[in-house]
Amino acid sequence: MSNNERTFIAIKPDGVQRGLISNILSRFENKGYKLVGIKLVTPTENLLKQHYAEHVDKPFFPKMLSYMMSGPVLATVWEGKDAVKQGRSILGATNPLNSAPGTIRGDFALDMGRNVVHGSDSVESANREINLWFKKEELVDYKISQLSWIY
Ligand code: TYD
Ligand code: MG
Repeated sequence: MSNNERTFIAIKPDGVQRGLISNILSRFENKGYKLVGIKLVTPTENLLKQHYAEHVDKPFFPKMLSYMMSGPVLATVWEGKDAVKQGRSILGATNPLNSAPGTIRGDFALDMGRNVVHGSDSVESANREINLWFKKEELVDYKISQLSWIY
């Protein structure tokens, strides 16, 4: 647990194409997280094999690969208290059958193979995924100081 923990959240091709970007980003902003990286990426097979290294040999992998390569993904990095755990709870369970209403998957997804979003499952995975998807110079560091915005 830390106040400046970072997590990697990606909006998958179905989320981008369905026009869900602003709704999903709002949930992280509203919760109190700070956006420190954002870009659209059409992932290559090589990137996805590294990203999903633990799943490469699973039977569902080929289908997942073509789904993930079907269009741009919005890659984001969010910073704040318990970002990894909270991020997973904002996403909801992997299988939309089990994801509660009020979560992203609970509100927008019906199929596990099209579950709209990805979120890191541990601080170690987050560091690995952030380094995989972003170059150092693409991530920003800034302080939010409410007072400086009040006149
Ligand atoms: P996983 O890492 O288990 O879930 P999460 O995205 O919540 O971390 O699996 C990665 C993705 O693989 C998952 O979001 C959807 C897909 N997937 C399937 O299509 N079928 C499956 O049986 C599983 C377990 C995952
Ligand atoms: Mg996972």
